[in-house]
Amino acid sequence: MDATQQNFTELLELANHYPSPHNGQPIRAKRTGESTLELYFETSRGLQAAEVSFLFSFVTMGVFAAHLALCAQALGHHCEMQPTLPTVEDLKHKPLLKFASSTVSFNVAQPNMKLRETLLSRQTSRKKYFEGISEALSNATIAIAAKHKQQLVKMGSGATKHAIWLNQRAVFDDMFDEAVRHELDHWLRYSNAEKEQKHDGLSYDCMELNGHLMKFMVRHYKLLRAPGIGQILREYYLRTMSDNSDVFYMLAPFSTEQQAYEVGIAVMQIWQAIATEGYYLHPFGTIMSNDDAHRDFLKLAHIDHEDKTKNFMVFIYRAGKSIKPNASLRIPVKEHLEMN
Ligand SMILES: Cc1cc2nc3c(=O)[nH]c(=O)nc-3n(C[C@H](O)[C@H](O)[C@H](O)COP(=O)(O)O)c2cc1C
Repeated sequence: MDATQQNFTELLELANHYPSPHNGQPIRAKRTGESTLELYFETSRGLQAAEVSFLFSFVTMGVFAAHLALCAQALGHHCEMQPTLPTVEDLKHKPLLKFASSTVSFNVAQPNMKLRETLLSRQTSRKKYFEGISEALSNATIAIAAKHKQQLVKMGSGATKHAIWLNQRAVFDDMFDEAVRHELDHWLRYSNAEKEQKHDGLSYDCMELNGHLMKFMVRHYKLLRAPGIGQILREYYLRTMSDNSDVFYMLAPFSTEQQAYEVGIAVMQIWQAIATEGYYLHPFGTIMSNDDAHRDFLKLAHIDHEDKTKNFMVFIYRAGKSIKPNASLRIPVKEHLEMN
């Protein structure tokens, strides 16, 4: 393997740790020259059951673009990104869409080992958090959002508990939406054998749920609203969430593909800042996509006039310190991310 190919391979190996909704891993990267890459989005690996998921796919593209730039920096390279975003309509009709070209200048700086470690150790934690986010880190993440002209807000402790409850309600209510339930079922990995075989999706151990029970809940979702048993299942689901985490929400313009892409860039930079300090986060995407939860969350946050062109509720997460979560797997680079 020549040195440039080795550099590309090493970069993509690190980039493969990027987070994606349901761990669908929708991004593909094609080497087009000595120092150039094209980035693609594979629609069958993105979420599509809720209408808002299409625009959210551009958040995932932004997350990957920011993650790739951080990976380059960690390895002593520099990555310039030229987004060439498709449209939501394209996303609904085409299987594979180019969304950016990137030029990588190799070995232009010292590798940043600490950043590399951070990118490798960044994970979603759905465990119990024993400590919230420090004030300094909270302010640092608020400043990252502000740099992107977005507003990140930390909720008070009473509202935090309510937000965690709203997320649980939205997750359970979504099971009654057939399209969303089928999509979730497609990505859930109910056993270790399934997890190891597919190397993608949401595995039971990362979800902090028993695999058999998780399958039972999806197959017999109507029980989630049954008197008695519904309450037991709610408490089981919430047992890792009544904790000392802090909940944050982000408001941003969210009416164009470009705006959604920029949300993704900010989300990844915030996630990296949190991971650098040894903290974890857990996105509450369901509150954004479930209409009732979205509306009730706006009330909780006292937002009277949500406006897609100015201040749309784009990202909600809990964050803090937890023990190390179970690892979610990735499809090997050569089998998926790297495209010939
Ligand atoms: C844009 C975006 C939205 C996400 N939304 C959710 C969510 O609603 N609930 C959740 O539990 N995880 C959510 N995640 C986390 C992914 O499921 C997670 O990144 C993926 O399973 C890979 O795991 P890892 O982050 O531990 O590497 C989201 C991630 C991204 C990038």
